[in-house]
Amino acid sequence: MRVLGIETSCDETGVALYDSEKGLLGDALYSQVAMHAEYGGVVPELASRDHVRKLIPLIREVMTEAGLGLTDIDAIAYTAGPGLIGALMVGASTGRALALSLGVPAVSVHHMEGHLLAPMLEETPPEFPFVALLVSGGHTQLVQVEGIGRYTLLGESLDDAAGEAFDKAAKMLGLDYPGGPLVAKLAQQGDRSRFTFPRPMTDRPGLDFSFSGLKTFTLNTTNANRDGAGNIDDQTRADIAAAFEEAVVDTLAIKCRRAIQQTGYRQLVIAGGVSANARLREKLEAVMKKERAQLFYARPKFCTDNGAMIAYAGCQRLLAGQESDLTILARPRWPM
Ligand code: KG4
Ligand code: ZN
Repeated sequence: MRVLGIETSCDETGVALYDSEKGLLGDALYSQVAMHAEYGGVVPELASRDHVRKLIPLIREVMTEAGLGLTDIDAIAYTAGPGLIGALMVGASTGRALALSLGVPAVSVHHMEGHLLAPMLEETPPEFPFVALLVSGGHTQLVQVEGIGRYTLLGESLDDAAGEAFDKAAKMLGLDYPGGPLVAKLAQQGDRSRFTFPRPMTDRPGLDFSFSGLKTFTLNTTNANRDGAGNIDDQTRADIAAAFEEAVVDTLAIKCRRAIQQTGYRQLVIAGGVSANARLREKLEAVMKKERAQLFYARPKFCTDNGAMIAYAGCQRLLAGQESDLTILARPRWPM
């Protein structure tokens, strides 16, 4: 079965063709990051307009890469939520209409399920059951995964998502949007021990997170280190970035360890934009080794938003018997 996946929930237009037997046949991505950077964040209206411009050319590009025509598509999977409503509607309408014209099923996919399953596209994929840490710009969740569609929420952020905290810290340090990768890069030049930031909610039991306090801590530390003219020297900025990253990564690692101990599972999957963070991977590798558990993650381009994870998730859903959606589904809020 060949499934065309369409992702347009935020600021990346992603398309991919996944074959249940042969694997990924093609994938293409257009990132709107440069356009939104000017505004310091995603502008929803501009995002929708750009998806409209880019989606069809990307579908053509993927089919050309795969050496196939539209009539070789057996089903279409599109992200139905959660995300920006206007952006979602572009992918949902195009996907549903294309499926109608081809006479094939269309399945709506949950964006976070896409992220969660992305590591399955790698050469050595995890096997059910496993614990998943979903860390993106909008979500921070620990999920017990027993199989496709069998997810139990173990814990989540009570305020900001980890990626959102990275983006806000980046802004305070004068870095562009999206700030996660830039904070990580700056942190490499920093001294991780000069400032010690709190590890929120790690002193009490449970698997929930809170990252908004780290934002305040970053702001206060930044302001306390400004000179008379209000400037902050480059080394101090790098030291703050390092302290911030260390605090987020440590907090995530402490909770992942708890989730592994609580479930007794021996596999941890990390997914979503922040799972591309090198320090997080390094720390979790060490923690999982101690727990005699294995760590799994996707290649960097499949950590952030992409069409491949939606094609894969849609394919698994169809194989598991999910029926075609007859209407166009777009849900800005949608619990997994
Ligand atoms: O999954 P994603 O592409 O989009 C959402 O579904 O939200 O995640 C984007 C988030 C952004 O907040 C971005 O700053 C963060 O992932 N991110 C990173 C890194 N790469 C992306 N955060 C920390 N370190 C990175 N290397
Ligand atoms: Zn995402």
